[in-house]
Amino acid sequence: MSDPAQKPGGPDFAQGVPLANIGDGAMMLGHVDGEPVLLARRGHELFAIGAHCTHYGGPLAEGLMVDDTVRCPWHHACFNLRTGEALRAPALDPVSCWSVEQRDGSAYVGKKIESAAPRPRSAAAGGPKSVVIVGGGAAGNAAAEMLRREGYPGRITMLSADRSVPCDRPNLSKGYLAGTAPEEYTLLRSPEFYREHDIELKLGAGVASIDTAARQVVLVDGARHAYDALLLATGAEVVKLDVPGNDLPHVHYLRTVADSKTLIAKATASKRAVVIGSSFIGLEVAASLRARDIAVHVVAPDTVPMRKVLGPVVGEFIRALHERHGVTFHLGTVATSIGGRGVTLQNGEILPADFVVVGIGVRPAISLAEQAGLAIDRGVTVDEHLETSVPGIFAAGDIARWPDPHTGDAIRVEHWVVAERQGQAAARNILGRKERFDAVPFFWTEHYDFTLNYVGHAERWDEAELEGQLDAETQNCTITYRRSGRTLAVATVRRDLAALRAEVELERTFA
Ligand SMILES: Cc1cc2nc3c(=O)[nH]c(=O)nc-3n(C[C@H](O)[C@H](O)[C@H](O)COP(=O)(O)OP(=O)(O)OC[C@H]3O[C@@H](n4cnc5c(N)ncnc54)[C@H](O)[C@@H]3O)c2cc1C
Ligand code: FES
Repeated sequence: MSDPAQKPGGPDFAQGVPLANIGDGAMMLGHVDGEPVLLARRGHELFAIGAHCTHYGGPLAEGLMVDDTVRCPWHHACFNLRTGEALRAPALDPVSCWSVEQRDGSAYVGKKIESAAPRPRSAAAGGPKSVVIVGGGAAGNAAAEMLRREGYPGRITMLSADRSVPCDRPNLSKGYLAGTAPEEYTLLRSPEFYREHDIELKLGAGVASIDTAARQVVLVDGARHAYDALLLATGAEVVKLDVPGNDLPHVHYLRTVADSKTLIAKATASKRAVVIGSSFIGLEVAASLRARDIAVHVVAPDTVPMRKVLGPVVGEFIRALHERHGVTFHLGTVATSIGGRGVTLQNGEILPADFVVVGIGVRPAISLAEQAGLAIDRGVTVDEHLETSVPGIFAAGDIARWPDPHTGDAIRVEHWVVAERQGQAAARNILGRKERFDAVPFFWTEHYDFTLNYVGHAERWDEAELEGQLDAETQNCTITYRRSGRTLAVATVRRDLAALRAEVELERTFA
C-alpha cells in the first residue's frame, strides 16, 4: 500500500500547467492544496481526480487511461475521470474530483467537486421490495453496496455464516498474516458502514435451505427471511485433508479472519510449520510465515508448484524464490499421516511441526443451490446476467459458472476481483439492468516482494511464451498463454502497464 501522507510530487496544478506539457491521452501527477492529484487529458477535455486508488492506494498516474476512465496498475480497478466513481472493483469508493479551467494555454486545477449522490430509484418501479444476499464475502458485500449506490431504497439483508463483517480475504494470507498489515485492513468496511447504508447484516447466520416456492430462505436456527430477489454468494469451502491425524488441534486451514488470527497466534508461539499443498494460498502462507521467522516445510504431490496454472518456468522460479527465502520443499510426495510430533511423508520421513497449515484447494459451496434444485455444473450455472435457472435467484463469486464470451466456455474462477465485479453486476441485474457479465478475469498473487498479475482465463493451454527475464537477478517479464495460437491469458511480473494493455486487448476478443 502506498503512503498517502508522503509529500505529493509533481507540479502544483493550482498554479497552472502549460497545455503543451500534457498531450492527448496523457496523465500527469501533481498536487493541489497538498493533495496528490492526477491530471488527464482527452482531446480538448481535461480531468483532475485523486491520484491514489481507493483500494490499496495504487498510483493511478502509472495506470492506463482508456477513453474517459483510468485503470489502476496494481489490481485493475477502474475510475471514471469525469466523476471519480469506482467503476470496477476492487476499488469500492470513488476518488475525489476537481474542477479544471483552461486559460492562456495552461490548465488550472480549481476546487474539489462534491461527489455525486446515489442515483435515486423508486422501489415501486416493478423492482424487488426486498433483496436477500446469502454470503458476506467479496461478492455479497459488493452486491449490497452496489444496490445502495444505484439508489435502491428497498430492504437489503445480508446473511453470513462468518463471524466477522465482510473481510479482505486476500490480505489474510499476505500482509495481515506476515505482520505487515494491521488488523483493521482485514475488514472491507466497519460495522457502522452497514448501519449507515441500511444493510441488515446478520453474522453467524448460516442458511440451511431455500424455499423457492415461498420465496424464503431458512436459517439454521429455523428463522425465515422472505425475498423478492435472492443472491447466492456462498463462496468456497476448503478441501479437507483425508489422512489420519487430520483433526488434531494443530492442523489448520485458512479462509476466515478467525483462521488467520489463529495462525498468527500459533506463529507467535512456534518455531516450525509444515504447509501441505503448494497452491497460491499454501505458498502465500509459507512466505508470510517466513516473514515471522518460522521454519517452513512445504509438502505437495506436484513436482513443480503452480505448474498447471502458470507453467513450468514460472513454477520453477516460484520454487527457487521460496527456497532462497529458506523454505524447504518436499515435492512429488504426500503426507500420509499427521501426529503430535509432525507430518509423516510417503517414504516414512517425519517432518517435525509445531503446527500444520493445509492448503490443498477449495470447492464451491453449492449445497444450498443443489438442495433448491438450481441447475448445477461444477458450480451454480448462471446465464450471461448471472441469473440462475430459477428466475429471481442470482449467483456470483466462487460458486458461479458463467458463459464467458471471451473463451466461449462456461467458466468458474476463484478470484477476488471477479467475485466483487460479479456481485456488482448481479446487483444491477437484480434492479432490472440486464447487464451482460463480460469482464476479463484478473487475479494477483504475492510472495515476499514478488507479485504476479494475471489477466484472462486459460484452463488449458498448449503454449506459454515468456518474454523478458524471470530469475533471481531480474524479474521483469510477460508470459502469454495460448491455445491453438490464440491468446487466452497473460501473466506479468513488474509490468503493470503491459497487464492493463493485455486486459484491454482481451476485452476486445470474443469467441
Ligand atoms: C487466504 C485467501 C487469500 C486469497 N488471495 C487471493 C488473491 O490474492 N487474489 C485473488 O484473486 N483471490 C484470492 N483469494 C480468493 C478470493 O478471496 C475468493 O475468490 C473470493 O473471496 C470469493 O468471493 P465469494 O464472495 O464468492 O466468496 P467468499 O468471499 O468466500 O464469501 C462467501 C461467504 O458466504 C458465506 N456462506 C457460505 N455458506 C453460507 C450459508 N449456507 N449461509 C450463510 N452464509 C454462507 C461465508 O461465510 C462467506 O461470508 C484468496 C482466498 C483466500 C481464502
Ligand atoms: S490498489 Fe488499485 S486496484 Fe488495488
